[in-house]
This record gives sequence, structure tokens and C-alpha cells, in this order.
Amino acid sequence: MFGPHLRQYSGAALERTMSLTQLRDGGSTSRVRPVTAQSLLEMKRAGHAITALTAYDYPTARLVDQAGIDLILVGDSVGMAVLGYESTLPVTMDEMLHHTRAVARGVERAFLVADMPFGSYQASAADGIRNATRLIKEAGAHAVKIEGGQRRAELVQRMTEAEISVVGHIGLTPQSVHQMSGYRVQGRTPDAIEALYADALSLEAAGAVAIVLEGIPREVAAEITARVTVPTIGIGAGPDCDGQILVFHDLFNLTFSPPAKFARRYGDAAAFFAGALEQYRDDVAHRSFPGDAESYHLPRELRERREEIEHLGKLEAAGRI
Ligand code: KIV
Repeated sequence: MFGPHLRQYSGAALERTMSLTQLRDGGSTSRVRPVTAQSLLEMKRAGHAITALTAYDYPTARLVDQAGIDLILVGDSVGMAVLGYESTLPVTMDEMLHHTRAVARGVERAFLVADMPFGSYQASAADGIRNATRLIKEAGAHAVKIEGGQRRAELVQRMTEAEISVVGHIGLTPQSVHQMSGYRVQGRTPDAIEALYADALSLEAAGAVAIVLEGIPREVAAEITARVTVPTIGIGAGPDCDGQILVFHDLFNLTFSPPAKFARRYGDAAAFFAGALEQYRDDVAHRSFPGDAESYHLPRELRERREEIEHLGKLEAAGRI
């Protein structure tokens, strides 16, 4: 139940340890069958919907993994969801490495994909391969995700040849926010639709293991899903994709902004936290926290000895001894 340096205390009072933090299972022996690029492909072939969600830290990664979500993305949406940036553009490689490492520590089963941040692959293939290698080698990602279709096909091919699994991302690609003049649904004209088909087919031909379809009409996503043999994972792309992905914070009302049309809320963590935080503030303010049961005590012998001394002191003060 406890991590390595707490295990030595099992059976003894936890009160004696100084660490108050519950640690992860150090010597877990559980043998779960990990999700791989191959199993995602098999799910598409079998018509089994692929479940995917973002995570950015150890506890949420653990919860998402244990819930049986197949693919976890450490999205560059970390910039907005966690770091308070206005867009994904400022996110750095160091930030992606930091968050991917934390998530990797919490994942046992899911296929772990790390986003390549803006600027980490656009300048040259050599940059892209070097940075992708870091996310896999230093942070524990199983694959990286890059944005763009035909114009990234060569890079995807080079990365694939360098043993790096790549997830493509087409449609509304947030790193192109300024080129798109805002976050707009893509693929709404015949030319744009044809370009999306070409994007998907070029990524497939280049070796992408999956393709994220973001912010495109349902009909276009369904057609792409039928045309490519690799799994499509949709976000704002309708129900006919091979799988669905959402941003963790959108599920739980943790974004401080109205949800997008495509997001569905599964809980109100903001309200839950706000209520609990007010309660904690009041408990401390009114000195009802901590209680005696939440306090450490002296060993009984020492406590009794102190009580005895106190008692004798009182008798003495009263002139009775
Ligand atoms: O960064 C992210 O969270 C993403 C998903 C929206 C697909 O790219």
C-alpha cells in the first residue's frame, strides 16, 4: 500500500513517520497489457471505439489510466489548461518534457503521446527528430504528435524512419491560430475538404500511427475515417471517428471559460473545489481544524509522567504538599 520508504513502517503507527504524503506503489506487480500503436490499429479494424483524454500531471494521469482510457495525450493544451497561457504557442520543450515525465510516472496501460510544442519541429527535420527523441527517451512518451498534414508528411516519414511513432493532427490546428485567423472550424468548402483528404492520406502514407481530426464537419471526418487505414481520433469532429479525445479540464469545468460546443461536462470540479476550500478556510479560521485525532501525541508513558508532574505542581501551589 505504501511506497518504499513508508513500507518499513507497515504495522507500526503511521503517526511515527514524518512523511504525510501518500506515495505511489513502488513495487507494483500488476501486469496490465499496455495499449500500443498496433492495438489501436486492431481496435479500428474491429470497430471498437478508442478512448483518449489529455493529462498533464501524475495524479490525473493515474486516474485517467486506471479508468481504462486507451490513449493519454500530454497536449500542448497544458499551456492554457495548467500554465495559464492564452494559447499553446508559448509552450516550450522544457515544459513538455516536465509534464510528460510526470504523466509517464502515472501511466501503466495507456498509449502515451506527447505533443511537440510550437517551434520544436517547424524549422528543420533535424530539430524535429532531436526534440521528438527527447520526449521519448527522457520523458517516457510512446509517440509524439505534430500538427499539419501534407506539409508535415516528409517529417513524419523521417521520424518514422528514426523509430519514432508519430500521431498526426489536422483540421483546426491550434499552433496555426494566427494563420487561421482564430480557432475556426476547418474543411467547409470543397477545396478545403479535398485538402483535408489529401492531408490525411499523406500522413497515412508517411507512417503516422493515428491522426487527430480537430474542428471539422462530421461528414468530412467520417469520410476521412473511411478512407484511411490508421485510426482517427476526433475532437469536435463528430461521432464517426475511430476514437474521441477531449481535454481533461473541459470534462470537469476547470477551464474558467464557457465550454466549446463539442465538449461535454462530466462533473463540476470547480464547484467541488470551491466548496471544499471555503470549508477548509472556515475550519482553520474557527479553529475546528486540526482536531485531536488529526494531531500527533507524545508516547503514553511520557504523557502520563507530564500529567503527574503537572498534578504535583498544582498540589504544591495549593500548599497541599
Ligand atoms: O493539445 C491538445 O490537447 C490537443 C488535443 C486537443 C487533441 O492537441
